[in-house]
Amino acid sequence: MNLLVTGGAGYIGSHTCVRLLEAGHDVTVIDNLCNSSPIALERVQELAGRSLRFVQGDIRNRADLDKAFEGGIDAVIHFAALKAVGESGEQPLAYFDNNIGGTITLMQAMEARGVTRLVFSSSATVYGQPDHVPVKEDAPLRVTNPYGRTKLVMEDLIRDWCASRPQLSAVLLRYFNPVGAHPSGRIGEDPRGVPNNLMPYVAQVAVGRRERLQVFGNDYPTPDGTGIRDYLHVMDLAEAHLKAVGYAAAHAGCEAFNLGTGRGYSVLELVRAFEAASGRAVPLDIVGRRAGDVAELTADPRKANAVLGWHAEHGIAAMCGDAWRFQQQAVAEE
Ligand code: NAD
Ligand code: UD1
Repeated sequence: MNLLVTGGAGYIGSHTCVRLLEAGHDVTVIDNLCNSSPIALERVQELAGRSLRFVQGDIRNRADLDKAFEGGIDAVIHFAALKAVGESGEQPLAYFDNNIGGTITLMQAMEARGVTRLVFSSSATVYGQPDHVPVKEDAPLRVTNPYGRTKLVMEDLIRDWCASRPQLSAVLLRYFNPVGAHPSGRIGEDPRGVPNNLMPYVAQVAVGRRERLQVFGNDYPTPDGTGIRDYLHVMDLAEAHLKAVGYAAAHAGCEAFNLGTGRGYSVLELVRAFEAASGRAVPLDIVGRRAGDVAELTADPRKANAVLGWHAEHGIAAMCGDAWRFQQQAVAEE
């Protein structure tokens, strides 16, 4: 297929592009590079041994999108969004404009071109504080911050659009906690500034870029008192997008899928796994809870297993080992 990947220069998008190219799809990326670099796309092409088309542009800009759709597109994989929870509380309008506004413009451009298939990056954040774990797709959806609201609104808009015509298909992929890197260490997650998320922070402590990890609370009702999450290797996530685009091509309508392993790890378990993978110590301090965090969030991935034929293959050792390889290379290149 000819695939348009919005946000394809970013963390998850770049890994997915490698997998799409390897599988024989032709790929056009549209990205405004607000949180990424064109170097990632050079490396994607190196790793896949094939080239892609890059349009540097903004999904809120119809002319940029029209350029990206030139030549005919069979399906869109939509990653482009702002994603920092804390920042979304300080600048909600920027999040509404970029994420929701961008998605509306994208759907308009798809409709104008007769493109009927959309795979969308949603998030486990749409479950808020769930009543039960592991979470199933039919659990109540809740909002805890403006970023989460944009994901929920975008899911609703896509579902409504999809219901407007029988030939439309959309796959809403609710990622749990994506981590890790391509096994080559050539692409990975290298956040600008202080990392918000656990794995990149741990990697930066291990490599000596930061002194100590702050563990946000050890008084949760979990076996070691620290928060439990469902970490998922980014290469497994890339594979899920390949399956999802195939599913969208074969089925009309809108479906949501959880993407996770179904197995949770606590903060301290992840730190120990990273120490084992890297051979480095990760010094830490226990501090107070981070506002908005939940004790435990894990996926019930059985719908994606059964319907998409997708299973997470990589365990925590590979997640940590690959994140570590990427972190070392990133520091060596500085
Ligand atoms: P990322 O920031 O690395 O990638 C997003 C890409 O989109 C970046 O390259 C950025 O430059 C681009 N972009 C943003 N706004 C744009 C716009 N208006 N026009 C064109 N390009 C634009 O983030 P990521 O971690 O790869 O996340 C990808 C998607 O997955 C996002 O929608 C995010 O909300 C979602 N998601 C991510 C996580 C996670 O932990 N990383 C978890 C759940 C969901
Ligand atoms: C965060 C986002 C969530 C988003 C997800 C994507 C918040 C509040 N939530 O989820 O919306 O969908 O990323 O990956 O930002 N931790 C520490 N020290 C740190 C960093 C994290 O102890 O320096 C702990 C957290 O308290 C949590 C676990 O590590 O228990 C994982 O945190 P993180 O990687 O930020 O992911 P989430 O909070 O699950």
